[in-house]
Parts: sequence; C-alpha cells; structure tokens
Amino acid sequence: MSADNSQGIKTVLQESRTFPPTPEFSANAHINSEEQYQAMWQRAKDDPAGFWGEMAENLDWFQKWDSVLEGDMPETKWFNGGKINVSHNCLDRHLTTGRKNKAAIIWEGEPGDTRVLRYQDLHREVCKFANVLKSLGVETGDRVTLYMPMIPELAIAMLACSRIGATHSIVFGGFSADAISDRNNDAQSKLIVTADAGWRRGKEIPLKKTVDESLTKSPSIEKVIVVKRTGANVEMVPDRDYWWDELMAGASADCDAIELDAEHPLFILYTSGSTGKPKGVLHTTGGYLLGATMTSRWVFDLKEEDTYWCTADIGWITGHSYIVYGPLANGATTMMYEGAPNWPDEGRFWELIEKYQVNIFYTAPTAIRAFIKWGDQWPNQYDLSSLRLLGTVGEPINPEAWMWYHQVIGKERCPIVDTWWQTETGGIMISPLPGLTPTKPGSCTKPLPGVVPAIVTEQSEPLGDNEGGLLVMTQPWPHMLRTLYGDHERFVETYFGKLKGLYFAGDGARRDEDGYYWIMGRVDDVLNVSGHRLSTMEIESALVSHDQVAEAAVVGFPHDLKGEGICCFVTLKSGDGSDDMKQELTNHVRKQIGAVATPDQIRFAAAVPKTRSGKIMRRLLRDIAAGRETAGDTTTLEDYTVLAKLRDEE
Ligand code: PRX
Repeated sequence: MSADNSQGIKTVLQESRTFPPTPEFSANAHINSEEQYQAMWQRAKDDPAGFWGEMAENLDWFQKWDSVLEGDMPETKWFNGGKINVSHNCLDRHLTTGRKNKAAIIWEGEPGDTRVLRYQDLHREVCKFANVLKSLGVETGDRVTLYMPMIPELAIAMLACSRIGATHSIVFGGFSADAISDRNNDAQSKLIVTADAGWRRGKEIPLKKTVDESLTKSPSIEKVIVVKRTGANVEMVPDRDYWWDELMAGASADCDAIELDAEHPLFILYTSGSTGKPKGVLHTTGGYLLGATMTSRWVFDLKEEDTYWCTADIGWITGHSYIVYGPLANGATTMMYEGAPNWPDEGRFWELIEKYQVNIFYTAPTAIRAFIKWGDQWPNQYDLSSLRLLGTVGEPINPEAWMWYHQVIGKERCPIVDTWWQTETGGIMISPLPGLTPTKPGSCTKPLPGVVPAIVTEQSEPLGDNEGGLLVMTQPWPHMLRTLYGDHERFVETYFGKLKGLYFAGDGARRDEDGYYWIMGRVDDVLNVSGHRLSTMEIESALVSHDQVAEAAVVGFPHDLKGEGICCFVTLKSGDGSDDMKQELTNHVRKQIGAVATPDQIRFAAAVPKTRSGKIMRRLLRDIAAGRETAGDTTTLEDYTVLAKLRDEE
C-alpha cells in the first residue's frame, strides 16, 4: 500500500462469518455485556480524567496525583504529582496476599531446563539485582541496556531498573553489534546486561561476543554484567565485565522501591520509522503501567488461577507489556520460553501447553502460518484442553489462518482476541473483549475503553463505513509514548505532523457497518516482516554501506510465512552481480542490522526506476517483487527501459 492512494484505500477482503463467545466464557468474564462495554467506552470518551482516575485505583500509589490529565496531544501529562513505582506494583503489593507463594514466572529453557519463581522469589532477586546496579554506579534517571536471551534474569533486570528509577532500553537478541552501539549511543546507556550466550534451535547465540564488538563503538558504557547461561567461553575485561552470579552472591535483598513521579521515564524501546535512525520510543511510569494492567485484565480476562503464556520475545513491546509488566501487575502467572517453536521438533509449543496446562495463549500470525505449514499432526498429538482463550498480535491475520487457529488449537471453543496496537501505543488499543465481542476472522474488532479512533483522509476528513483510510487516534490515552528519546521535534512531526491534532502511526484501515476495524497494513515505507517493523530506508543504508554498492531500493512483497518479505534491488558500482555477491550482501545486512533483516531476494539491476525528480518509484518495484503486472501510472518514469530490464532479470 502506498500513501498516494490513501484517499480511498481499496478494500478487497470480504469476510462475513462471526463467532460469539460461548455462554460459559461470558458468564465468568471480567467484562461480559455489550451494555457494560458501551457504558465504559462512552464514559472514557466523555470524561477521560474521571474514567482513568477511577481505573488508577487499581494500582498502589505512594502519593495520589494532583490531576489525572493535563494538556492535549501531543503534550500530555498523566497523573501529575502522583508518586508510584512499577516494581512495587508488580511485586511488593502481592507479598501481603495469597500471591506470595504463587508462581510469578514459569520458565522453560530451550534444552528443557525449568525454573519457577514465586512472587517472593522474584521480589528477592529483583531487590538484590537493584542493589547490584546501584553498587556499579547506576542511579535514578540513568539508562541501562539489556541484550539478553529469554531467561528470567531479563525480567529481573527490567524490574530492578524500574525499582531504582533507571530507564531500561532492551535490544532484541537478534540485533547486530552495530544496532546495539547505535542504541547505546542514542540513549547514552551507562551499563549493559547480557549473557554469555542464548540457545536458539540447539545453537548458541554468542551474545557477549556481540556486545564486546558493540563496545568498541559505545563510549558511554562503563560496566557489563554477564549472566552465565550456556557456559560458552567468553572474554571478561577486568573492571568492566562482571558475572551476574558473583555480584548477586554478595548483594543484599533489602532494597526499597523508589517513589517516582508518574511521568518518570520507565523505558526506551527502539523501533523503525520510515526515515532516519531508529526511534527511541519513550514510555513513562504511571500511565504505561495503568494501560498494561487494565488491558491485560480486560483483553486476556486474567483470573487468579490462569497460566498465561505470551510467546513474544521481551525484546519487543509485546514482551514488555504482556509477559512482564501487565501480567505481574495483575498478580498473574506468566510463562516464559527461551527457544524456538520447532526445537527439538515442531510440537514444542503444544507440548509446553500440555505440560504447564496453559489457559491463555498469545502469539503472532507469522507463527500461526508456520504452524499450519508444519501440519496438524503436531498440535493433534497433545492435550490442549486447558486452553480457554487465544490471542494474536503483530500484523493482520488472514482469515484462513484465523480459522485454523480457531479450529485446530481452540477446538472451536476458545475466543480469539486479535489485538491491534504498536510500540508507541504501549498497550492494546483495538481488540475484542473475549466475554462479549462476536469476532470476525481478520478484524481486530472494536476500540477498548479510553481509545477513540477514526478513519480519515489525508486532509483529516472523516470517512464513512467501509471506506479505507488512515487510522488515527483522536484522544490521548495514559499509555501512549511521551516522546522519542532526545528528539521531541521528531516525535511531534512523526505522529502529529501529518494530521494536525490527531495521532497517526502509519496504518491504513477501514471500519465496517458494525463498527469493526479492519487493519490494512502500513501506509509508509515500513515493512512488517514476521510482525517486526523494519524500515526500508535502514536496509537500503545497510546495503549502500557495502563498498561495491552504488544504489539500493528495498520493498516488501507478500510472503507465505513472514507476511511480508524483503526484496532488495541493488545497483553495483561495477560488474553484473553473482550468487557470491548476493551471499555477501545478505551477510552484510545481517551484520549491520541483524538476522531479523535478512533479505529474502536480492536482485541486481543496472538502474532502478525513478521519477523525473529522482524519487524511486517503489510502487513499480513492489509490483516486480511480487511478480505482478505493473498497474497504474508510469508516465512520470524517467527511463522506461529500466523497467523492462528489471523484468528481464526475473
Ligand atoms: O501495522 C500494525 C501492525 O504492527 C504495527 C506495530 O508494530 P510494532 O510497533 O512493532 O508492534 C507490534 C506489536 C504490538 C502496527 O502499526 N499490527 C500490530 N498488531 C496488529 C497489526 N496489524 C493488524 N492487526 C493486528 N492485530
């Protein structure tokens, strides 16, 4: 989809099946009637301060706020004057209840090792690690980078940072050394926590080695803490690098949670935009926690006895909000799995569901498409009867994948919550409420209370039912990003510059006659590869940084498993290109950005199609990458022969 036709984005998807929740599910759900939802939604729209002020009573405040909401988008302040601590809300407040001995985190490593941390265990580890951070000079307001595998120490480190008011910046373990140093430098991180290595499909991912490489270009980092995970041989630099175990052995388990301002920065998470370097999305303390807490409760219908499993990596926002902060603030049992879904075989997820009697399962469409490809024989070998609710996130789910999830995993019994949200929104925005919303395969259905979306034209004019346009938010919500770290101007320009007074984060959508939203994908030059946002521009820069590359243009194309694949058109400085060169460029992109950005296709081209003003005509490249006939206007093309040449090379 391109921005130039967003006046009326053409919709082709027609889906009329609906699936209401079972009466049994509805009977016990937190929100279970349309009237209740309507009343909450209307109240939140008309009186956001009243609504969210009431919701905030679900959190433990050291000091109540003076005002719930000050200002308007983009400059909003939530719970100004309030004092709160996220780690206190996720841990301490549960210790005086029956949750003290309840499992907070159930973890399984890829090789099959397991750990269970009860709330009091997690509290103790977090207090100790908070003291470790302090002993290495980390103070309230400092930034700490976390580059770790999916092990409990990652959650411990996050909660320890929030306990002392250090702002964490998690870098997904699939990113390269350069990506880490860019983020370290942008955030001016003081310390990095990593592991010797992590397990992935039976192989060791050498995290510490990658960190070492990043540190040649990260002058702000003073100390490195290393968790011993696989026993891999790593180099430890004296007075810079410390083993987690050794520091923890000497740490006190006594550490008060600091009373922080509601707007204190909780974390930075870098995400791709269409231009420039990655954007440091900043979330703050009170509003974010409130959003993560309430949306977890509403959407996942969390109950005391549930075992809840979100399969995301904590390196993405989904893991922040729905593995760690949301579930723990609710006193839930959250499961964490370290490795790949197909290790040692394709039944691993279903085996885990049976083994731990998982009740709520939250995964991504890209994973569901892989499960379908691997075959029903894998889930069918296991008892999945503990499941009561299923969820998806990250990209539009195609109705066929939705139906498979419903039938083969949910046995036509479990509601599916298709949750639309973004790194920037902090928490789920549009989603079914499982106890009441009749679902339609492929639609994320209706906005949650406090979320007031609209579909508009490029001129901010509202569109009618079933007219495709730009998805915007018309009112602020507590868990929205507050800024892009160190670049407030870019924040205002990116999200509020296009449509004045409205939050726009790049998706096209339509609303149907029942008020259901259907997300149509990104309208900017951002790809959604396996649910991960990648900027075409960053991949292009990575390619052009290779000394043989003169020019590169990157576009997405439909991909069976990944949703969108990465196609790179490359013009070399000399020569025609070869398979060796393709491999070399693939490795180069992986080194620059990480394995997440591995190109699916590299096509060498003598030139790429440009307009007379020199803009690459991506629409044409998208057609070529997808193997489609070129549709639409080519009259602005500078050189017609370029297109023919590109096609010949297919
Ligand atoms: O395009 C939308 C898509 O993922 C984008 C947000 O990506 P990110 O910030 O990485 O966060 C992913 C996890 C929250 C959105 O702009 N997206 C996310 N969820 C859905 C979706 N598209 C359709 N349906 C969804 N449920």
